[in-house]
Amino acid sequence: MLEFIAVEKSYRNHKVLNKVDFKIPKGEITVLIGPSGCGKTTCLKLMNRLIKLSSGKILLNGEDITKIDPIQLRRKMGYVIQQTGLFPHMTVQENIEIIPTIMKMDTVKIVKRTLELMETVRLDAETYLYRYPPQLSGGQLQRIGVARALALDPDVILMDEPFSALDPITRSQLQDELVHLQEHVKKTIVFVTHDMDEAIKIADNICIMNEGNILQFDTPENIMKHPSNNFVKEFVGAKRIWSQPEMIKVQDIMIHNPVTVGSKMTLVRAIEMMVIKKVGSLIVVDSDNKVEGVLSSSQFRAKTAPKTIVGELMKTEIPKVSPEENIVDLLKIVTDSALSSIPVVSENNILLGLITRSDLVLTLSKQFIEEDETI
Ligand SMILES: Nc1ncnc2c1ncn2[C@@H]1O[C@H](COP(=O)(O)OP(=O)(O)OP(=O)(O)O)[C@@H](O)[C@H]1O
Ligand SMILES: [Mg+2]
Repeated sequence: MLEFIAVEKSYRNHKVLNKVDFKIPKGEITVLIGPSGCGKTTCLKLMNRLIKLSSGKILLNGEDITKIDPIQLRRKMGYVIQQTGLFPHMTVQENIEIIPTIMKMDTVKIVKRTLELMETVRLDAETYLYRYPPQLSGGQLQRIGVARALALDPDVILMDEPFSALDPITRSQLQDELVHLQEHVKKTIVFVTHDMDEAIKIADNICIMNEGNILQFDTPENIMKHPSNNFVKEFVGAKRIWSQPEMIKVQDIMIHNPVTVGSKMTLVRAIEMMVIKKVGSLIVVDSDNKVEGVLSSSQFRAKTAPKTIVGELMKTEIPKVSPEENIVDLLKIVTDSALSSIPVVSENNILLGLITRSDLVLTLSKQFIEEDETI
């Protein structure tokens, strides 16, 4: 784990990082994002001691990085940058193996590792190992950059806008591959980008920066749903969540206090209740608030006996959803169901809320309507 504690960085009188505190969790992808000049690259360079901090502390697995020999430290942290920094006069293989070779590691082991790494970054070793960087495409160069960063099996990989110069298709492919690679190698990845779509796609955590401050450090989901201030809100964009509708959950759009009745209530009282509360259906619950059924106005018949109770008429074969269900799945359930309201229940069937067709339509329509409110 990497931890920044009240980290400040100034160049002469110009403060570029302002008492920054955050924790980068082990084995996850954390994305630093913010406008140009906000201090993203500075954070990365501080982590591997390419530059010195002015005050504060950075800990790597609890150890102050200024106490670690810089060469050792950099071996624990692979660095990947936009222009891969590969040496054009050396083959791909020589580029990947340069540090292990200088360190006089065992040649057989080095070659074995190189072949593994080529597999990890999905490039055919026979085709590419003997080529020179100018003979590769941008996407291939970036893959080699990643392979080289992984050569010494570092704990942490720092990536500074590694995909920003690539065409959108290659970029999207490499994003998918990075997520896949991370699941496989379980490294701690700190990734800098300008691109919010990229951040949302790959990040476990997003750190939004502006003018040397951290504005919000959170999961992509929370950043979209609960931006900490107007800057974050505008930076993220109200409609961004529609790029990931799976992130909108039933609990985000449900009614929290639906109107309920007991199964012993008479139908006459239940109808009065519907009229007073202006609802088209009632959720029938027992004394523990467990859902027994739904009574909707469409079930009433003129000839119903006056003493009929709710329990005799309610529908018991009804769909229910969990608050964690996402709205894409919810949409299927609502479409398949004849009911206009669906109870939201806990694992043991306790009523938590209610979803109505009209709420869902309202939520879905937000993606087409211009407005600056996030859901
Ligand atoms: N060596 C330096 N001397 C003086 N100022 C510097 C130096 N390096 C960076 N800065 C300043 O520090 C601030 C933060 O720079 P940094 O490179 O961290 O920004 P960034 O967030 O990575 O921006 P970008 O998205 O454009 O890469 C900028 O205002 C920059 O001008
Ligand atoms: Mg930068």
